Amino acid sequence: MGNVSFIGMKLPDRVRVDVHREAGRNLLDVAMEHSIPLPCDCMRGNCGACAVKVASLCGKTNMIRLSDKERYLLLTAGKISQMQYDAASLPDHPPLWRLACEYQVADEKIMVAF
Ligand code: FES
Repeated sequence: MGNVSFIGMKLPDRVRVDVHREAGRNLLDVAMEHSIPLPCDCMRGNCGACAVKVASLCGKTNMIRLSDKERYLLLTAGKISQMQYDAASLPDHPPLWRLACEYQVADEKIMVAF
């Protein structure tokens, strides 16, 4: 089981939720299930509206390699640098910024800022 803590200007306080890993369930799904007002639009990784900062709270990082589309959107939105874009093609170099609709929640403890 994972654990996600959300912080943001639209929240009065930190919201912490436990997450049971399910195939195809992403961070935006988790936020919507718990009425967390993450910004979003397309919900398919096409617009970049759901960019959030994700930090590990347990020292364990999600080892999934970012897709080329996610890396490109984060780069063109100015969320990551060219160096971070290049590094994010490797499985163990995730950038701080991620797209909530592309981030598959694993058995991990993370902080999400928006
Ligand atoms: Fe459009 Fe996530 S909502 S990229």
